[in-house]
Amino acid sequence: MQNFTFWNPVKLIFGKGQLEQLKTEVPNYGKKVLLVYGGGSIKRSGLYEKVTSLLAEIGAEVLELSGVEPNPRITTARKGIEICKKEGIDFLLAVGGGSVIDCTKLIAAGAKYDGDAWDFVVKKAIATEALPFGTVLTLAATGSEMNAGSVITNWETNEKYGWGSPVTYPKFSILDPVNTFTVPKDQTIYGMVDMMTHVLEHYFHLEENTQYQDRMCESLLLTVMETAPKLLANLENYEHRSTILYGGTMALNGTLNMGYQGDWATHNLEHAVSAVYDIPHGGGLAILFPNWMKHNLNVKPERFQQLAIRVFGVDPEGKTAVEAGLEGIQKLREFWNSIGAPSRLADYDIDDSKVDLMADRAMANGEFGNFAKLNREDVLEIYRASL
Ligand code: NZQ
Ligand code: ZN
Repeated sequence: MQNFTFWNPVKLIFGKGQLEQLKTEVPNYGKKVLLVYGGGSIKRSGLYEKVTSLLAEIGAEVLELSGVEPNPRITTARKGIEICKKEGIDFLLAVGGGSVIDCTKLIAAGAKYDGDAWDFVVKKAIATEALPFGTVLTLAATGSEMNAGSVITNWETNEKYGWGSPVTYPKFSILDPVNTFTVPKDQTIYGMVDMMTHVLEHYFHLEENTQYQDRMCESLLLTVMETAPKLLANLENYEHRSTILYGGTMALNGTLNMGYQGDWATHNLEHAVSAVYDIPHGGGLAILFPNWMKHNLNVKPERFQQLAIRVFGVDPEGKTAVEAGLEGIQKLREFWNSIGAPSRLADYDIDDSKVDLMADRAMANGEFGNFAKLNREDVLEIYRASL
């Protein structure tokens, strides 16, 4: 285990009816609020009405930025930044999924920056200041509600990159499982794949002596796998929605990966695919991750073997670590197939015509991955295996 400092300042407010807490939280940061949301799901679910009523009760002056896209665009963030600067916004409230929250993070930092906010995304500048913001999460997936990361797309140039800074943690996040009842089946599946992949990205590291961290990761994976079929059979089940909502937050808020660094290559591979084809992040991961695993099985087969035995119930008797590991990878594939996740890029009508462009985007900062460094050849091999 390496030395580490754990710091996460997000106030997590979880459970039924917790939306009311907006009345005590928002006034801590000012009166003039920019409400940021997506393409209308919060209007259809009635959440918009509830949020705006609560904000009215505390006398907040509310401006709005709607239409944040899934895979949020830099163009939309720029609109939000302009509103903040022009109107003197005190506080941002993101109501939605990871995309709305990620866009809000860039608006918050961009509002305090004189240059173009894309500078943060391409690491030309580091955000040292941001407007305060809170979130009301409506989709269990990214963990953005309790981390400082944000992923932004420039559709004109087909680029999609993650960025973040210590100033882009939400001040608070309100997680009421009821607000996730209306998430459609496909997005529910993508969300569960995404959180499982966050755990798996952590899990594949080269550090020794991480028994407790390993067991926490395995426990989260087992919990999501046990809950997924039950939730998909009843999308409005409070218990299952709450298990998955909590799991998504814990998968990427820093608690699982103290003392070691995970791999994260598959996230880079997926961001390059969705930069070119605008597919859902979790869908892309479901296709790519098992192929990344197969590609790197020989790097440290014992990690794959441990996962196979402890999470996928593989019997190691008479098998090499590689054989047991491979069986585990197969079982992960079968599990994702069983819940209806995509398994091939062809499921999104993606053929080999733009693999070079995707590889260019994935290689934007050179070789990547911590468990295994991927070069351009590796990247192309994984993409081709995923077609
Ligand atoms: O836009 P609306 O109308 O709100 O609809 C959304 C959107 O169409 C809908 N939705 C959300 N909550 C709903 C709902 N529909 C009905 N009922 C609800 N309660 O779901 C669709 C997808 O929403 P989105 O926010 O895009 O999904 P997700 O939370 O999976 O976020 C994906 C984005 O996050 C990035 C991804 O790359 C992608 O851009 N990521 C961010 C991370 C982070 N900040 O830490 C880490 C992740 O690995 C990921 O890369
Ligand atoms: Zn992810």
